Amino acid sequence: MSDPQRKIKLLVVDDIVETRNNLINLLYFEKDIEVIGSATRGQEGIDLAKKLQPDIVLMDINMPDMDGITATERIMQQVPGVSVIMMSVQGEQDYLRRAMRAGAREFLVKPFTSEELTSGIRHVYAENQNLRRLQPVVTAGQGTPAADASDDHLGEVISVFSPKGGVGRTTIITNLAVAVKQHSKKRVALMDGSLFFGDVGIMLDVRNNKTMNDLQGRVDQLDAQLLTDVMMTHSSEVKILLAPPKPEQAELVVAEDLKRIIQELRRNFDYVFIDTFPSLKEETQLAILDASDYILTVMTLEMPSIKDVRLFLEVAELLEYPRDKIVLILNRADSKHGLRAENIEATIGHPITATIVSSGAAVTLSINRGTPLVMDAPDNPFSKDIEALAKRIIAGTLNQKESGKKGKEVAAVGGEHGKGSGKPGGLLGGLFKKR
Ligand SMILES: Nc1ncnc2c1ncn2[C@@H]1O[C@H](COP(=O)(O)OP(=O)(O)OP(=O)(O)O)[C@@H](O)[C@H]1O
Ligand SMILES: [Mg+2]
Repeated sequence: MSDPQRKIKLLVVDDIVETRNNLINLLYFEKDIEVIGSATRGQEGIDLAKKLQPDIVLMDINMPDMDGITATERIMQQVPGVSVIMMSVQGEQDYLRRAMRAGAREFLVKPFTSEELTSGIRHVYAENQNLRRLQPVVTAGQGTPAADASDDHLGEVISVFSPKGGVGRTTIITNLAVAVKQHSKKRVALMDGSLFFGDVGIMLDVRNNKTMNDLQGRVDQLDAQLLTDVMMTHSSEVKILLAPPKPEQAELVVAEDLKRIIQELRRNFDYVFIDTFPSLKEETQLAILDASDYILTVMTLEMPSIKDVRLFLEVAELLEYPRDKIVLILNRADSKHGLRAENIEATIGHPITATIVSSGAAVTLSINRGTPLVMDAPDNPFSKDIEALAKRIIAGTLNQKESGKKGKEVAAVGGEHGKGSGKPGGLLGGLFKKR
C-alpha cells in the first residue's frame, strides 16, 4: 500500500540552468513532491537515476550530449520502476510519438503551468503505485499469464471482424471470451483492438489506467510480468488489454507493436480474443487479422452487410488466408428478415458456421449494466448461442457447422462456386433464389 506521508521523489534532467532552477523552485512548496537531484546531461541523468532511484524523471527532450528520448530509452532498460515525464518546446505529433515509444509516460509542452506540472507528476506517480500494488498478486493461477510461458506454448488467436460497423462484434467477443473462460477454466485474454473507439472496457465495466499505450517503447521487454502490469482482470477472470483511452493516442499504436503484443499474448494464454474495427486500410487491423488463427466474421441479415462480407471474402482470398480461417457468424438471426441463411451461404460461397439470435432489450440492458449476458442471464437464447460457440472453440470444432452438420456439407452449399459452377449473376445474384 502507498504511504501517504511518502513524498514523490523527482529527478530533473535539463541542460539549461534557469529551467532546472525554475522547476526546482516551482516544486519547492509542494508538500508531496521532493526534488532529490538534478542533471545537466542525458548520461548524467541515467547515472543519477540508477543511483538515486527516483519515482519520476522529468526529462528535457533536447540536450547536447544525448537527447532525452535516448536517455529515456536507456533509463527504461536500466532502471526498472522509474517513470519518465518528457518536456519539450515542440509539441508535434512526431515528438510525442517518439517520446511515448521510448517509454515516457507523460509529455509536457513548454511553457507549462505549475498546475500542469504537478498534476502530471501526481498522475504518473499514482499510475506507478497502482502498477506496483498489482505486482504482489502475480501468481500463475488460472487466468493469469503463464509463469511458464515458453516458445512451445502457443494459444489460439481468435479475432472478430466485420467490414461493417455496429453489427455486434464487441457484444459477441466480450460474451464469447467470458463464456470460454466459464466453460474451460483455461487462460483467456481479451484484447481491444478497436483502437480508436474501443468499447470492451465499457461493455465489461472495467476501468484501468493502463492500456496498450503503456506498452509503447516496451514491446521488446514484453513478458508475463509486463502483461500482468498492463492487463486488467475481469470478474470472470478473463484478462483484458484495453484500447488506448483517446483516439489521438490510438495513432501511436503501430502494427509492429501489435504483432509483438499478440505474439506475447499467445505465449501466455490459451485463448486470445481480439476485437477490431472495420478498416482494411489500417495496418494495425491487417496485423490483427494476419495474426489470427480464426477471424469470426460477423454479418447481419441485411443486404449491405452481406454484400460487404462477400467483398471481404474476396479480400481474404487475395491475402491468401486459408478458407477455414474465416468463420462466418450470422448475428441477430431470426426469421423475420425475409432472407434465409442457406441462400446467403449459396450466394457468398462460404458456410455460415454459427448463428446468434437477436435478443433485443436483454443484450442492450446487459451492455448498459456492464455485465455480459452470459453471466447475467445464462439461459437467455443469446447466451445459449454464445455458449454453443464457446464450446466448439474449446472442443476445436469451430470449422464445423452447428447442430452437428459438418462444415464440409455446408461448404458444399456455398461450394457451388468453389467447384467452378460460376458465380451467380451480380454481386448478390441468387440471394433470393428459391431453394
Ligand atoms: N444478438 C444481438 N441481439 C440484440 N442486440 C444485439 C445483438 N448483437 C448486437 N446487438 C446490439 O447491437 C448494437 C451494436 O453492437 P456492438 O457494439 O457489439 O457492435 P460493433 O460491431 O462492435 O459496433 P462498432 O462498429 O461500434 O464497434 C448494440 O447496441 C447491441 O446491443
Ligand atoms: Mg465494437
